[in-house]
Amino acid sequence: MGEEFFWNKRYANSNYVYGTEPNSFLAEQCHLLSGPVLSLSEGEGRNAVFMAAQGLDVLGVDISQVALEKAHQLAKSRGVEIRTVVADLATFVPEENHYGAVVSISAHLPSAIRHRLYPFIERALKPNGLILLEAYSENQLAKNSGGPKQLDMLMTVAKLQREFPNLEPILLQEIEREVFEGEGHTGLASVVQYIARKKG
Ligand SMILES: C[S@@+](CC[C@H](N)C(=O)[O-])C[C@H]1O[C@@H](n2cnc3c(N)ncnc32)[C@H](O)[C@@H]1O
Repeated sequence: MGEEFFWNKRYANSNYVYGTEPNSFLAEQCHLLSGPVLSLSEGEGRNAVFMAAQGLDVLGVDISQVALEKAHQLAKSRGVEIRTVVADLATFVPEENHYGAVVSISAHLPSAIRHRLYPFIERALKPNGLILLEAYSENQLAKNSGGPKQLDMLMTVAKLQREFPNLEPILLQEIEREVFEGEGHTGLASVVQYIARKKG
C-alpha cells in the first residue's frame, strides 16, 4: 500500500485524527518563528492554522489531498488563510533561500527520504531562518501512545545532528512528555525536540 493511499484512507472521515489544536511544542515556541513558514507533512492543518492565526504566512506540504482539504476547511472555520501543496516529500524541492522557518511536527519519514530532503531544507532557509522539529524518538517504539513502528522513521538527537550538519542548534533534547493530540497521538511519549538556526 502506497503512503498516499494509506494517509488518504486514514483521514477519510469527518473527525480530525490529531485534533484541531496545535502541537504544544510549536505553540510554546512559535514566537521565535518568522515567515514565510514551510510546514512539512502538515496533515489536517492544526499547526498551519495556528501559525496563520499568529500572523505567519504558511505553506503546508503533505502527500494527502484529503488532509489538505480538511486543513482548508479548518482555516475557513477559524477565519484565516493558509497555502498548501499536495506533494511527496520524497521528490519535493522547496524554494531556495526563501523561508524564515521550516516546521516539522510528527513528519516521520524513512531515512532515504530524509537524507535527500534535509539538505534542501537547509538551503530553503533564509540566513538566520529556523527549523522547529518535534518527532517521536526511537524510545517511542516500546510505547503504545502513537507514532510509526519502524525504527528507521524515529529520531534521535544524534540523527538530527548528523542530518542537519550546517545548522546551529538552539535547543536539542529528547524528553518524555504527555501528548494529547486526538486519537492519533495520546499518552506518555518519547520525543525529540529541535530548534536550529541557519548561520547568517
Ligand atoms: C503523523 S501525521 C502528522 C500530521 C501533522 N504534522 C500533525 O502534526 O498533525 C504524518 C503526516 O505525514 C504525511 N506524509 C507521510 N509521508 C509523506 C510523504 N512522503 N510526503 C509528504 N507527506 C507525507 C501524512 O500524510 C500525514 O499527514
